[in-house]
Amino acid sequence: RRAWTLVSRGAILAAIGAVCTFVYVTQTETNPGDQLPQDPTKKTLVVLGSGWGATSFLKHLDTEEFNVIVISPRNYFLFTPLLPSVTVGTLEARSLIQPTRFITRHKKRNVLVYEAQGQDVDPVNKTVTFSDNSEIQGAASTVTIAYDYLVYAVGCENQTFGIKGVADHACFLKELSDADKIRQRLMDCIETAAFPGQTEEEINRLMHMVVVGGGPTGVEYAGELHDFLIDDLRKWYPEIADKLRITLIEALPNVLPAFSKELIRYTESTFKENEIEVLTRTMVKDVGAKSVLVQDANKEEREIPYGLLVWATGNTSRPITRNLLAKLPNIQTQRRGIVVDDYLSMLGADGVFAIGDCTATQYAPTAQVASQQGQYLAQVFGRIGLKSKYERKLAKLRESGDASPEKLENVVKKLNRVSKLTPFHYSHQGSLAYIGSEKAIADLPLFNGNVASGGGAAMLFWRSAYVSTLYSVRNRTLVLADWMKVKLFGRDVSRE
Ligand code: FAD
Ligand code: NAI
Repeated sequence: RRAWTLVSRGAILAAIGAVCTFVYVTQTETNPGDQLPQDPTKKTLVVLGSGWGATSFLKHLDTEEFNVIVISPRNYFLFTPLLPSVTVGTLEARSLIQPTRFITRHKKRNVLVYEAQGQDVDPVNKTVTFSDNSEIQGAASTVTIAYDYLVYAVGCENQTFGIKGVADHACFLKELSDADKIRQRLMDCIETAAFPGQTEEEINRLMHMVVVGGGPTGVEYAGELHDFLIDDLRKWYPEIADKLRITLIEALPNVLPAFSKELIRYTESTFKENEIEVLTRTMVKDVGAKSVLVQDANKEEREIPYGLLVWATGNTSRPITRNLLAKLPNIQTQRRGIVVDDYLSMLGADGVFAIGDCTATQYAPTAQVASQQGQYLAQVFGRIGLKSKYERKLAKLRESGDASPEKLENVVKKLNRVSKLTPFHYSHQGSLAYIGSEKAIADLPLFNGNVASGGGAAMLFWRSAYVSTLYSVRNRTLVLADWMKVKLFGRDVSRE
């Protein structure tokens, strides 16, 4: 009995502790303190982008030694790994984003944030030109500023391989607005299919959801769509739900080429069980408003009618990146992106560093790579900041003329120490993907090898890994609440 009383008291104390910590953390997150103002004697550090690379860089950067300016067309960070869940309403869009100002307001020195699109980087004169591309425009809409350092983290855009009709008819899945558009179009297809007097052929077309690209984006989307069909559509649209078909088209012999063979087989068999048709060795050649033209391994062509088309065939460089590469044609020779050295410094451009998907490196274009690069680069800038601090100190000591040789030597030693950089090293933490019906796949580097796992346990691991990497307590709370909401009430099938 005594032991029981002790346990229950302990539990009550632990619960009170957890609530206090939660309140403390949320209050600290939402009530930032005072900041140092920008200082004209400090160097200007411009950051282009507010995605994985840029946000990780800003999070870890000591801003004291720099005047930092962030320029990005979206004024928030988006947690892309959970974006496919937004397309069917498993998660709400705003649960996955964190305003950039929430991030920069917690820095030591004031950081300027401009919602604008970088238009041009001049690596010779060290300037960036950016413009306000939003709906509401003021008197000034295009501005050029000078930088001492530029952190280039603009990511990539969607690859279409120049295939006709993709941009006009397909939905991409990269931005929040894309996920929202998919959700709207999906429900529009379903509502239109339910409209009275529809022909059988038209119902079948409208209820055919085609995904092009069997990489992780296409696979995760197909998995989410399947869940929506099973958990919700069958309940609320019993008359047509069974007409819904999902087809995944992949040009290569299998889906998920970057995962282990075992997990590829597991995904393909799960999709078979879930009646998701996978057309491998099949290439989309042309996209029309209501059908796609595909070519199979025997070079035979056929039309596949669709209601909703999601295009997930990977990345390509943004125009601003292509433009920057073209300015250094002899040094920057990779069309894939920016070539950097071991310290992430862009070859041929003084003071420019590039991270994430916009670079051409040995690493896959993933959030993991971009965020590790951002963190590493913040350390590099920490050293650059310290270096200028010691240089100033040394100049002052020399100027005063009365500093002892030991004192001078001590500062020189410190200066030399901070000038030495270690190259960037990527540490792979594994690959995870959700494949639908409460199953995920995980390729994890463990015990000096690779452990592949698929199923419900991997799904729990996938969920906990992503919840713990979400940016803030606010994001974690919202995502957990969304999951709970869906468990209790199902997904919302209304169309905004
Ligand atoms: P981004 O995160 O794309 O950020 C680019 C930033 O630059 C954005 O803020 C953008 O608005 C801004 N920008 C664009 N143009 C300009 C311009 N002209 N001027 C200034 N700023 C500009 N990776 C994983 O490791 N694990 C996953 O589970 C995973 N899941 C994913 C799921 C989906 C649906 C998608 C699409 C990707 C996923 N990825 C995942 C990949 C990951 O999102 C990218 O590798 C990562 O976002 C790259 O980070 P980045 O900073 O280079 O680019
Ligand atoms: P991807 O490049 O990984 O896959 C695109 C697929 O589309 C390829 O398999 C390609 O063969 C296929 N394809 C290209 N053209 C085609 C055509 N015309 N017809 C049919 N198929 C065609 O692209 P994805 O999935 O968008 O991923 C981009 C990056 O983001 C990758 O590095 C990926 O690892 C990362 N990512 C990681 C996730 C995770 O770890 N869970 C989730 C989503 C993305």
